[in-house]
Amino acid sequence: MKPKFYCTTAIPYVNAVPHLGHSYEMVATDVIARYKRLAGYDVWFLTGVDENSLNSEKKARELGREPQDYVDEMAETIQKTWGALKLSNDDFVRTTEERHKRAAHEFFRRSYENGDIYQASYEGYYCRSCEAFYDEDELKEGGVCPVHESACEWLSESNYFFRLSKYEDKLREYITSNPGFVEPTSRRNEVLAFIDRGLKDFSVSRESVKWGIPTPVDPEHVIYVWFDALINYLTGVGFPDDTAKFDKYWPCDIHVIGKDIWRFHCIYWPAMLMSAGVPIPEKVFVHGFVTLGGEKMSKSRGIYVDPVAAVEEYGSDAIRYFLVREVPFGSDGDFSWETFVARYNADLANDLGNLLSRTLNLVQRHFDRKTPPVGETLPEDTAVAEFAAAARDSYVESMDRYQLHMATDHAISIVRTANKYLADTQPWATAKASDMTRTGTILYTAMEALRWASVLVSPVAPDAAVRVQAQLGVNEEQTQDLASLQWGGLTSGDPIGKLETLFPRIQIKVEETPATQPTEATAKGSNVTETAKKDNAESTGIITFDDFMKVDLRVAEVLEASPIEGADKLLKLSIRVGEETRSLVAGVAQYYTAEQMVGKRIVVVANLKPRKVWSLRGCCSRGRTMRGISCWRSSRVRSRRGRAFRDP
Ligand code: MSP
Repeated sequence: MKPKFYCTTAIPYVNAVPHLGHSYEMVATDVIARYKRLAGYDVWFLTGVDENSLNSEKKARELGREPQDYVDEMAETIQKTWGALKLSNDDFVRTTEERHKRAAHEFFRRSYENGDIYQASYEGYYCRSCEAFYDEDELKEGGVCPVHESACEWLSESNYFFRLSKYEDKLREYITSNPGFVEPTSRRNEVLAFIDRGLKDFSVSRESVKWGIPTPVDPEHVIYVWFDALINYLTGVGFPDDTAKFDKYWPCDIHVIGKDIWRFHCIYWPAMLMSAGVPIPEKVFVHGFVTLGGEKMSKSRGIYVDPVAAVEEYGSDAIRYFLVREVPFGSDGDFSWETFVARYNADLANDLGNLLSRTLNLVQRHFDRKTPPVGETLPEDTAVAEFAAAARDSYVESMDRYQLHMATDHAISIVRTANKYLADTQPWATAKASDMTRTGTILYTAMEALRWASVLVSPVAPDAAVRVQAQLGVNEEQTQDLASLQWGGLTSGDPIGKLETLFPRIQIKVEETPATQPTEATAKGSNVTETAKKDNAESTGIITFDDFMKVDLRVAEVLEASPIEGADKLLKLSIRVGEETRSLVAGVAQYYTAEQMVGKRIVVVANLKPRKVWSLRGCCSRGRTMRGISCWRSSRVRSRRGRAFRDP
């Protein structure tokens, strides 16, 4: 029987559609779930939505909608978002569902009957966005919430309270003797320090509120949203009705949550479970926040990336890969279009995409589209297999320690090694010399490296893994689990699949665009969101007055214009500036034909630093430079098949 593995995400509020920051948590947990399935576990991956927040009701009323009607629509939108990101969750709990109400009631009743819930009146500072009370010393200057930075209000209510203070010693003892319960360690220390400051009972009901789940002991009160939301983790595995399922999957193996909600998960939740007599989860993993160009993401402040639009533009694998590879799991990380494009082009388009197309093009040409036979293996061939085995071991070790970013790099390191192996062994040269035995051995080795990499990268980039495997002509048994991943699994003579580009290279323009070019400061797909444009413009487009004074703008006349082969957006121009004739390239081909440009008077930056020009399909100036150019960012976007164009 397979061992079980149960993992969860926090359940987002539904008063706004999720942004890329929320998606990060979902994707990371999905990677864990997919990895565990690959490693042979019977996985239950749960996510859902937190609908009973007063903010949902408030938002619905603002829109003139009935709250239930509004949350129904938002739950659907959120599920579509997760669908676009290819989440493989096994269930989705909505906290307005009947099954969840039953779970919340049962849990509340158990705690109440144990004497851990009592009625009292309470006064304190309350943040409506957090739906939480704060002590005065926790607030920022001016009585401001430490998370939302908005003013807290003084609230006085008669509520039901949970006896958290009773669990102070038990919790300290539990967390101290189970060092793996809270990760990373820095968070665990924070949790212990919080307990050492003394735990106070917290309110678990709200009076005079209609939206939410009424308490089972007093229908005039609804259950406090955090108390109800945490119970979703039990609802999702059948509590209280389906005991077989519950006994199979509970306790949860990992709750993945963000750094703003550890207090609820690492303190309230285990104490609540102790009170209700339910075993405590194995682990709460607290991840960091994803910022956008260094700023906190916020839909309401307009600083965010829409994950659905990003997926439509670049595909789910690219977004997933970036988030997991770029943000160390447990720390904060930043998203910017520039780093996204650099990472995509380097790892996915260049390393993985190129290895696949180079290898299979040669197989297609020289081996009649069939997996080549293997001849004598030389030390350099064996070294690739040994490297892959070591990378697989490091990958497993990193994944098991939830070092997702490192595991991803170990997977891609096989591709990097295989690319170097091809460069060293040169199968195109051996083929030219008609040494087909050697050529076949090299290509078979590269195909095996690709197969291994595709399996290891599959939790992060599931679609790409399937596409690589289809092109390699691999059948499912050869790729389904880690245990059966053996070197030499490909069968010589098997047909390969249809070749297609895996990750088309992304073009990005840079801020040095001359005045001749319509300003467009984002990567391809600049319509991803207005906010993304704004972010990029802000982080790259602002200059000081001193910088402005350095810019030498001059009017020039276009003497000649011609298209550039392989660069759809560029025109090569010959211009007269004063008495001088100059050549430049301008990114105007989408707006004007070469003929239309001739005779036009344009504004150019006359003192732009000359630099090498790479066109997208790789025009390479081979060390020559041009002036006043619009250029494509970085040598990473060049291809090896590039044509040269030069400053005449
Ligand atoms: N509804 C509560 C969770 C209840 S769990 C029983 C909540 N919702 S939330 O919508 O505000 O956040 C959902 C998750 O997204 C949280 O884990 C939160 O930390 C995470 N993130 C929100 N913004 C984020 C980033 N910018 N980056 C990474 N994670 C982020 O809290």
